[in-house]
Amino acid sequence: MIKFHTIRYKNLLSTGDKFTEIYLDRHQNTLILGENGAGKSTILDALCFSLYGKGFRNLKKELLINSINGKGMVVEIEFSIGLKSYKVIRGMKPNKFEIYVDGELVAQDASVRDYQEYLEKNILKTSYRSFTQVAILGSANFVPFMQLKAKDRRELVEDLLDISIFSTMQNILRHRVTNHINDVNENRHGIELLEERIHGLHNQLKALQQNRDEKVKRYKKTVDDTDKYINELEEKMLFQAGELTKTEESLSGRGKILETFDKAKHSMSNLESERARSKRDKQFFVDNDHCSVCSQEISDDVKTKQIDLCEHKVESVSKKIHVLNTELSKLEQTLREMSNREQLLSEQKRRLDELMNEVKTNKKYKTKMLSEITELEKDLRQNDDVQGRIDDAEDILDRLHKKKESLSTHGHYLDIAKLLLKDQGVKEKIVKQYVPVMNKLINKYLAQLEFYVGFELNELFEETIKSRFRDVFKYDNFSQGEKMRIDLSLLFTWRSIARMKNSMSTNLLILDEVFDSSLDVSGTEDFLKLLGSIETETNAFIISHKGDMLYDRFENVLKFEKHKNFSRIAD
Ligand SMILES: Nc1ncnc2c1ncn2[C@@H]1O[C@H](COP(=O)(O)OP(=O)(O)OP(=O)(O)O)[C@@H](O)[C@H]1O
Ligand SMILES: [Mg+2]
Repeated sequence: MIKFHTIRYKNLLSTGDKFTEIYLDRHQNTLILGENGAGKSTILDALCFSLYGKGFRNLKKELLINSINGKGMVVEIEFSIGLKSYKVIRGMKPNKFEIYVDGELVAQDASVRDYQEYLEKNILKTSYRSFTQVAILGSANFVPFMQLKAKDRRELVEDLLDISIFSTMQNILRHRVTNHINDVNENRHGIELLEERIHGLHNQLKALQQNRDEKVKRYKKTVDDTDKYINELEEKMLFQAGELTKTEESLSGRGKILETFDKAKHSMSNLESERARSKRDKQFFVDNDHCSVCSQEISDDVKTKQIDLCEHKVESVSKKIHVLNTELSKLEQTLREMSNREQLLSEQKRRLDELMNEVKTNKKYKTKMLSEITELEKDLRQNDDVQGRIDDAEDILDRLHKKKESLSTHGHYLDIAKLLLKDQGVKEKIVKQYVPVMNKLINKYLAQLEFYVGFELNELFEETIKSRFRDVFKYDNFSQGEKMRIDLSLLFTWRSIARMKNSMSTNLLILDEVFDSSLDVSGTEDFLKLLGSIETETNAFIISHKGDMLYDRFENVLKFEKHKNFSRIAD
């Protein structure tokens, strides 16, 4: 319960630079009197301005400043809630807004982001609209409950039932659901991306493996082919070596043959000399009759004998020469053949060398291939690298899956919260419980004001009003006085509910010219009786022009007057 103690204000509307101070908790009821424009309704503006920063009348707040002084507008209000006492000071020109809790100024630092929000949400716990519906029934600019839109009716009732927290929670929930959906989408997207990436990496790994396997296979085949080729080459070498041996063997008697050839040549030359000498000797005996040395005559007989001897010698030597010639040409032929074979031999040696080189080269190539295969089989670095990336991605994926699980659990809670907070949820249950109570109270107060209609609010706060002997009526069907009775009944109902729920209940009740125009004498009587009977903890302020009629019904009377253009409370 907010218990208001005092309000003081200056330079507000027609109030001058001197504080007007009103005790709000001293009398159960106070009658406020004064002529038109005396400054009576100003108290409503002071109250609203101090608590909500705006007047009760529909004015830009700058226009609340007294136009003659044009500055120094201040409103101070003191109240207590439970054991805590509060004071709010608010002013314009200069601007001022201070909240004191138990005499200590609430710091306007970051922890109190919005000072007004702090006052409304943490201290007053009620909005401007709800507060005015419960504490004030005024003529100026006052929209009675019955003229509020469904949404505003609902807001007031939620405030009264202290369930507006569920609407706040619903707003927070909406926000959280949006964030949750974003988180879920982000998570799903992340999972999809990672799964794709892991798939790609696995393919890469497979391709690497395949590539290596193919290479190894290819290299092994090359090794096999090379082996075969080496075998072929070695066979060729063997054959070639055989041939070479054969050729070498065939050349083994060459020295001897050469020797024989030389000897034969020498013999030939001796034989030819011998034959020439014999021919020369023969010719000597043919041409000469005397010995060239001793000049002794050579007899014919000797001559003939010597000539025959020489001819015989020539003939026998010629025969030998012939035989030797045949032998020589044979030897020459053999030597030619041998020289050819020598050529063949060097050709065969060259070929054998070539083959040996080729074998060597191929063996080297085979060794290289084998070491490449060993390298390929043991070098798994590239694989390890890809596998490492797969492992990393799988780690993250694992985390995302865990997050997905927790998101799903969170989503489940959000769904439950949504179910509880939707209009058919907890709130509706509470409202449903209270609607019959409200209807009971309204009808009780209507009866006490001697207005017998059946008034019923449904759960959407739509009214059905059934007048006796008549059909269903709308609020506007009723007369001013009847409407006033309905408004008053609703006001008392809200106040009773607020007291029951200890939500926005307050000691303050201000009725501005409620009776003056619409309530007749019996209505006023009924109202005053009602006020006296139910609102024991209330400090009611009734602004009225019907002073003479009401005067003696009030504990206290305040009279406002204008003095030198400024409003004040008359002595
Ligand atoms: N900014 C302002 N500066 C000075 N006076 C102002 C300003 N705004 C309004 N007023 C005047 O303040 C006076 C007080 O108004 P208020 O509504 O309190 O009168 P009231 O006593 O309730 O009169 P009524 O009986 O007619 O309702 C009025 O005369 C009004 O013209
Ligand atoms: Mg007034």
